[in-house]
Amino acid sequence: MSSFALPAPEAVIDVARIRRDFPALAQLVHGRPLVFLDSAASSQKPVQVLETMDSLYRTSYANVHRGAYAFSRHSTDLYDAARAKVAAFIHAPTPEQIVFTRNATEALNLLAYSYGRTFLQPGDEIVLTELEHHANDLPWQLLARERGLVLKRIPLTPDGTLDLRTLDTLITPRTRLVSFAHVSNVLGTITDPRPIIARAHAVGAVVVLDACQSVPHLPVDVQALGADFLVFSGHKMLGPTGIGALYGRADLLAAMPPFLTGGDVAREVDFDAVEWEAAPLKFEAGTPAFVEAIGLGAAIDYLEAIGMERVRAHERELVTYALELLGELPGVQLFGPRDPELRSGVVTFTVEGIAPQDLALALDQCGVAIRSGRHCAHPLHRRLGLTASARASFAIYNDAADVEALHDGIVAIQRRAGTTRAAVPSRYADCGGVA
Ligand code: ALA
Repeated sequence: MSSFALPAPEAVIDVARIRRDFPALAQLVHGRPLVFLDSAASSQKPVQVLETMDSLYRTSYANVHRGAYAFSRHSTDLYDAARAKVAAFIHAPTPEQIVFTRNATEALNLLAYSYGRTFLQPGDEIVLTELEHHANDLPWQLLARERGLVLKRIPLTPDGTLDLRTLDTLITPRTRLVSFAHVSNVLGTITDPRPIIARAHAVGAVVVLDACQSVPHLPVDVQALGADFLVFSGHKMLGPTGIGALYGRADLLAAMPPFLTGGDVAREVDFDAVEWEAAPLKFEAGTPAFVEAIGLGAAIDYLEAIGMERVRAHERELVTYALELLGELPGVQLFGPRDPELRSGVVTFTVEGIAPQDLALALDQCGVAIRSGRHCAHPLHRRLGLTASARASFAIYNDAADVEALHDGIVAIQRRAGTTRAAVPSRYADCGGVA
């Protein structure tokens, strides 16, 4: 029975069962049960993913696309199957429209380099937003400087959503490209991409959707949304590091030159000539991270067995509860929309009188792992008037007890810092001191 005034939400999924698949979560940190609340940075991995990769390395590892022998054919078949799983997961029309990259950052750099440097001309306009992660900001900023492009940004409203009333003035017939986050990694804001995409397409611009924080947490159908490009990382969605994906419209991928060159990108090479492969191989120079791609396929199997609607429902319950519990604490300021329908499982906040970094360090001593800093979104923090913030983020293996642990940890830290008179929760009687 919870000791909290607010009722803990009914679990939408069986978290206790799920947690048995995540060995990392069963550990103690500083002698306390780990409460892992940093999945927006990178998620933990289930044994199903670890064993898939381990088994390939142990039993039938060989390079893909390069051998007639059984091991190589086996790796190649599994790699191709992983591509098909990614395509099906985001409802891409064909697997050939999925390019494996190192992560979303590399996918966005690929787009700025290959699409941007080929198709954008001086004076063209590109539109971002005020809430972008640096990965979807710096490649375009650099391109704009280099190419003489005009860069505009859709502004934020005071409640942390995008001000879509500006679309018609910001996105004009001079706009060639619009790139924005589906879900903010700081505010958790879920942006409905459709009005932005509709406006962009009405003026003939292409749309890039940074889906890093959406694909792991809610159903995403790239065809229904109509994005021309979509990127995400595997490591935020139960998969390994070193693997991400770029979805692209077939005609655009066909028209784009390679980003990196080397093995596998060309059908025919002569001393002074080259005939490129078709997508996706054209964009996958060198030995790809195929074991990681296959691991990502196992992560997708895992998420699909739960169902993305249920993943979303579960995380919406957690964020609702977190906003309620943290919202009641004096001195805690929450950022982003208060309507849980408009936000993912990300809660960013500050605690009066305690620097976010100190808060994160003190919570760590209590076994609670959160992120502090500017979360690779410096312009957004400047826009919010913040030098830093604290961020807790949820995944399928979190439950209401984790939210309560975060709440109790903050109270313990506030008490030790002398900023509250509330009693120190007993479970954190001997931690939470701010250095
Ligand atoms: N993009 C990751 C985050 O927001 C690293 O934490």
